[in-house]
Amino acid sequence: MKILVIGGTGNISRGIVAALQSRNHEVVLFNRGQHADPPPPDVRVIHGDRQHREDFEAKVSAEDWDAVIDMISFNAEDATSALRACQGRVGHFVHCSTVMTYGPPFSGINLPETAPLQGTSGYGLGKIAADSLLLAAYARDRFPVTIFKPSYTHGPGMNLHRQVGGDGSWLDRLRKGKPILSAGDGLNYFQFLSSRDAGFAFTEVLGRTDCFGEIYNLVHPQARTWDEWHHVAAEALGVDIELVHVSQETLIAIAPKRFGGLRGNFGHTQIFSHEKLAAALPEFSPQIPVTESVAENIAWMDKHNLIPDSDADDLEDGIIAAVRNLPRIG
Ligand SMILES: NC(=O)c1ccc[n+]([C@@H]2O[C@H](COP(=O)([O-])OP(=O)(O)OC[C@H]3O[C@@H](n4cnc5c(N)ncnc54)[C@H](OP(=O)(O)O)[C@@H]3O)[C@@H](O)[C@H]2O)c1
Repeated sequence: MKILVIGGTGNISRGIVAALQSRNHEVVLFNRGQHADPPPPDVRVIHGDRQHREDFEAKVSAEDWDAVIDMISFNAEDATSALRACQGRVGHFVHCSTVMTYGPPFSGINLPETAPLQGTSGYGLGKIAADSLLLAAYARDRFPVTIFKPSYTHGPGMNLHRQVGGDGSWLDRLRKGKPILSAGDGLNYFQFLSSRDAGFAFTEVLGRTDCFGEIYNLVHPQARTWDEWHHVAAEALGVDIELVHVSQETLIAIAPKRFGGLRGNFGHTQIFSHEKLAAALPEFSPQIPVTESVAENIAWMDKHNLIPDSDADDLEDGIIAAVRNLPRIG
């Protein structure tokens, strides 16, 4: 198949390109050519900025595609432009949405694709708008769209997040034997998927006409607690870990900007159902060992100097010292 990936050099899209190439598909990328990681040498790249709508639509619509995978569509305007570029010329259009569209309420176990969509961030709201616009195009014109909603993905191309934030200094703390903060009791569940496994699902779904007009959660079926996740990072680094638990409310009260993300998806137990995708795509079963993918992720951060010196920021040490010095009875 001749497949266009809009994006293609980022975290998930790099996994997609690798999976497409392993299937001998003809892969073409559309991106600005600015990413720190170059594309594989044998992949054709159409350079452009999708925000320059006319240029983007002219370049994409100049060719026919068996499939287009859109990795960087964040709102109704992006989706409308993609529709203009692709309608009538594309055998299958796969749009990347996110589980950050679900909630409030956030907490839930086995949340299906029909769970409440309200969105509390611009990111979630934009994705909801893009998703519904594309589904309306399917309902109206049979536009052959499939929507994937990945949960948290890991692997090269993105910082390794922990529950309290995306700043890479926690990995420096672990390397230096310093304790790290964990929100609440550390027992909230989430799902963590290797971007290589995600790439496999995006590749496998192509050409499945029964997946047109459908949304699927794209998650690891095995949920983990955030503290298990912190332990995986320590294992990947080959170090011991010391966790200091502080309630979410306290962290948000101390530094609302830094820890405000805990008010949303990451601050709750959210386990998304894997069942609909498992029924449609039984071949999809995550294979990449989590510690291996996390180690690749950390190596990528080291390569790009994305692990800051934790000694330069004393907030975490200050919170930990304050919690340890709280008066205790007995
Ligand atoms: N990572 C997660 O945990 C997660 C979870 C759920 C959903 N998602 C979704 O996954 C998608 C991100 O995919 P990714 O991980 O491959 O992306 P990424 O790591 O953010 O990389 C972005 C890619 O898009 C290109 N790009 C960025 N802006 C562009 C523009 N204006 N015009 C043309 N190309 C542009 C970049 O290349 P250039 O810079 O060279 O243009 C690069 O290839 C998003 O839709 C996100 O919502 C991610």
